[in-house]
Amino acid sequence: MLFFEVSSIAGIYALKSHLAHYVKYMAAAKDVLAIATMEVTLSAIPEGKVSVIKWRGKPVFIYHRSQATIDQEKSIDISQLRDPETDEARVHKPEWLVVIGVCTHLGCVPIINSGMIPGGFYCPCHGSHYDAAGRIRKGPAPTNLEVPTYRFLDEQTILIG
Ligand code: FES
Repeated sequence: MLFFEVSSIAGIYALKSHLAHYVKYMAAAKDVLAIATMEVTLSAIPEGKVSVIKWRGKPVFIYHRSQATIDQEKSIDISQLRDPETDEARVHKPEWLVVIGVCTHLGCVPIINSGMIPGGFYCPCHGSHYDAAGRIRKGPAPTNLEVPTYRFLDEQTILIG
């Protein structure tokens, strides 16, 4: 009888420990989910400016492009590009460029509004120049800046991830 009671108490502790493990596991999953997606309000970003947010440990550039910048990027002959992509293919709305701010060469963070292309990005590590659509134009980077998965929730809000 005594053995049975001790066993039951041990069983209860074992069950409690087991449940605690699941609760902790579920909490971690929620944390991961929160980091996996990120809502960004666009209204605070003036035209011509780039906001930098951190998403999944990486900088993301959110660029409010002017009409002149959009026209400049749309006029590019993509057959001349190393990683040919139209401007339209890289944006959901022309006035908003969203790219991961990590150079595709060796992972440095490019400087905003710098380099040989007006309104573009320049990586100082080895001299890669990206245009204002995040396309590689000169230097060692093999591909364009990556466009993350995102969608518009409304006119002024995007959900990244
Ligand atoms: S890491 Fe950007 S050019 Fe090398």
